Amino acid sequence: MKSEQLSSVGVMRAPRHVVFGAGQRRSLPGFTLPMGQNIVIVTDTRLESERDFGEIVDGLKAQGHSVSVFAGVEPELPDRSVAAGASVASRASADMIVGIGGGSCIDAAKFIALLAAHGGRPSDYYGEFKVPGPVMPLVAIPTTAGTGSEVTPVAVISDADRTLKVGVASPYLIPQVAICDPELTYSCPPGLTAVSGADALTHAIEAFTTRTHSPSPSIAHENVFIGKNILSDQFALQAITRIGRSLEAAVADGTDTSARSDLMYGSLLAGLAFGVAGTSAAHAVQYPVGALTHTAHGAGVAVMLPYVMEFNRRHCTQELVEVADALGVATSGAEPASNALAAIDRVRNLCAAIGIPPTLEALGLTPDQVGWTVENALGAQRLVKNNPRPLDQESMQLLVEAAFSGYIGSLNS
Ligand SMILES: NC(=O)c1ccc[n+]([C@@H]2O[C@H](COP(=O)([O-])OP(=O)(O)OC[C@H]3O[C@@H](n4cnc5c(N)ncnc54)[C@H](O)[C@@H]3O)[C@@H](O)[C@H]2O)c1
Ligand SMILES: [Fe+2]
Repeated sequence: MKSEQLSSVGVMRAPRHVVFGAGQRRSLPGFTLPMGQNIVIVTDTRLESERDFGEIVDGLKAQGHSVSVFAGVEPELPDRSVAAGASVASRASADMIVGIGGGSCIDAAKFIALLAAHGGRPSDYYGEFKVPGPVMPLVAIPTTAGTGSEVTPVAVISDADRTLKVGVASPYLIPQVAICDPELTYSCPPGLTAVSGADALTHAIEAFTTRTHSPSPSIAHENVFIGKNILSDQFALQAITRIGRSLEAAVADGTDTSARSDLMYGSLLAGLAFGVAGTSAAHAVQYPVGALTHTAHGAGVAVMLPYVMEFNRRHCTQELVEVADALGVATSGAEPASNALAAIDRVRNLCAAIGIPPTLEALGLTPDQVGWTVENALGAQRLVKNNPRPLDQESMQLLVEAAFSGYIGSLNS
């Protein structure tokens, strides 16, 4: 049976406008005009000095907007970046926030729009459904392909009082407008292209293989992430196809414009998929691993992805057959189990080809940190409960130990 028949509920949450295509960043002033007068752009120092950025600002000013720039977003989004940006928005009497940059800049823009509308501190809103109403109008323009944050209901922050990164998840955080222009990713170096693209692939595969939850009439209200459903499946499969066929090419040759376009389209679709379905074990384990190794989010989830697929294999075989099909490695007439294995092999080889470390140890985790990783990965309950194979202390230990050592023999024994 096709997995679609098993998940006959569908929920879609998305920006009011989604625009995709080379050069589409120039569509921005047409959207901002009816949204207000005073714009605060949230970005980082890298982008602020680029010619593309100057052109975007000039385009807004030419429409008569007053534009203030907050370029203080730091990688991994420490809470001090959000506090500083919120003061800029307040001083500028902002009517709207435009976030331009990687996931860190877009998440910063989401927090700033949240605080501008409701006050308080980010920690007042950690968790699901804690945002009491609409945030300040928000436009997101990604420069990585990527997190999908331009269309998701999530923002992630490094809180100085906490060891692990924390998140706010609320449909109110979805930007009103997402403009995805692959030209803005042409400057991404190979390492960034690899880890951000692998993050997007992980979003798509985890969204497609998450558990389905019972399709009660309250499903869209009880959880921000409702699990696998027929709408997210459409986005996820197409994302897997696009990213699967173009990630290696974009890493090898950053001037390959068709690969760049595929990647950005794929990351957008992956965001639309996981923003409703959610992600699972790979993301749960990345939280502690990222905190301990100080490695990029995308690198951590990508190390985990083939192990999580192997760990889950017998609990989502049909989905993995469809993943194999989307990746172009399914053999017609072959046993489902064999095509599921082909999907995992393809993902493992792709990650190796783009330079993702093969194990958590190679990523920098030490043997004495495995136990803490297991405990804290289990703490990410919204991700853990989405995993197709039930995760408890024992099975999480199995997964993390396999990903640490590279020995997968015990995962399905
Ligand atoms: N909100 C969500 O839905 C969501 C989903 C996944 C990850 N995240 C978060 O997003 C962040 C990661 O985002 P990211 O992977 O986009 O990286 P990033 O935003 O952290 O940026 C990493 C580095 O790349 C640089 N960069 C960005 N665009 C560039 C370009 N076009 N050319 C050259 N350099 C460029 C940045 O200046 C920065 O130095 C993490 O904080 C992660 O937790 C959020
Ligand atoms: Fe991610």
